[in-house]
Amino acid sequence: MKQLIVIFSLFTLKSYSQDNSFIAKPYLNIGRQPSPTTLDLLWQVTESNADWTVEVRTDKNSWTKTETPQWVPLAVDSLTTRRVYHTTLKNLTPGNPFSYRVSKDGKIVFTAEGHAPKTESQPYRFVVNGDIGAGTPDAKLLARQSFLSHPDIVVIPGDIIYENGRASEYDHNFWPVYNADQTSDQGAPVMRSIPYIGVPGNHDVDNRSLDQYPDGLAYFYLWRQPLNGPEGKEGDAFVPALKATDAHRKAFMDAAREAYPNAVNYSFNYGNAHWTVIDSDPYVDFSDKDLRAWIAKDLADAQNATWRFVIFHHPPFSSSLEHYEQQQTRLLTTLFEAGKVDVVFSGHVHNYQRTYPMTFQPFKKPAIITGGRDNKTIRGRVVNGYWHLDKTFDGKTNTHPKGVIYIITGAGGQELYNPEQTDNPDTWQKYTDKFIATVHSLSVVDIDGKNFTLRQISPDGTQVDEMKITK
Ligand SMILES: [Fe+2]
Repeated sequence: MKQLIVIFSLFTLKSYSQDNSFIAKPYLNIGRQPSPTTLDLLWQVTESNADWTVEVRTDKNSWTKTETPQWVPLAVDSLTTRRVYHTTLKNLTPGNPFSYRVSKDGKIVFTAEGHAPKTESQPYRFVVNGDIGAGTPDAKLLARQSFLSHPDIVVIPGDIIYENGRASEYDHNFWPVYNADQTSDQGAPVMRSIPYIGVPGNHDVDNRSLDQYPDGLAYFYLWRQPLNGPEGKEGDAFVPALKATDAHRKAFMDAAREAYPNAVNYSFNYGNAHWTVIDSDPYVDFSDKDLRAWIAKDLADAQNATWRFVIFHHPPFSSSLEHYEQQQTRLLTTLFEAGKVDVVFSGHVHNYQRTYPMTFQPFKKPAIITGGRDNKTIRGRVVNGYWHLDKTFDGKTNTHPKGVIYIITGAGGQELYNPEQTDNPDTWQKYTDKFIATVHSLSVVDIDGKNFTLRQISPDGTQVDEMKITK
């Protein structure tokens, strides 16, 4: 009997201190309208009528309740019914720490700390790390490196989750790694304290069949980010049609709501930088006037920002033999040059590459490459043209680039592409300055006013590249 009592009290103690209804523990996003005084908090739980409240504290004394958390149902065929909650933490002091606590039916079940976004005049650090969602040992070690580098934000240039963008895949390969309770070789408690920013990759949004995966396209309901991109409709140049029965479509729309289909293109400011996020999947027609007009205007409106960064999944300028034919984003280079973009970040190609500062003029219509089971699916577009390279820039002694620098940071954990090319520069295209495919890595970038410093870091913390830009 004594033993039974001990076992029982251990059990009750555990269930009291660790609420087991969380599927995704609370995590920070930049929200629909990012500002230096706000962040959104989201969490995912199994369906119940529990009463959830969130309190935030920006100084030592007072806890303030946020507005009542809202939720959307996630009631799709392949999952037991869930709720995705969100609320906004407001009145934060830019750059300063805050604490928050989440209560369920009046009991505190989760606490964490973070800091508010930075203003234009504050220095900041961000991590860029693509193709991270496979749950590999190196992805987990990079999650830890990301945490240990204390960034202000983490931006993921696509392939957030493998293989098919499903909510159930996040359960295994994402939440336990990037929002772990402890820092270890299995992950780190990053997302509860540092906002992640999601950019869609092919594994996140390319498969539009909800009949095949009813919990697919989870990107549209697991991320709360701006909805200020171009308005598309299914069947348009940049929105493929869903394959879904009425029931599958309804269940998806009940969760995604206003985020579908346009949450894939958006922009935001952080510190003294403007970021433009673009869906670069092969189904997008980059000759579309509306899409091009949005990108051009977004960059034109951002000319007062000190830095302009563009981020999307498919790199325009890669030397990897793998995916070499997927050059569709080269059709956007003239917009980036007109908009005075400093750096374009991509993933998709699972290694690290950076170009010389460059300009590129496409000279004829792209050759569309098809493939897939039906041999009709667009795999990519070969885009030839003329480039001009600034080879005087070295990122060390000459830090004033003439042109746009294209960085591929897709070595976030998935199988590395073409490691054999690393020490074989004869296989690199002329625009490539660095090519590292023998080790996984992530980009840590420090911005201090007009100074940009990128360090590329491996899973064990070794620096494998460094590059500076000054204005
Ligand atoms: Fe990809």
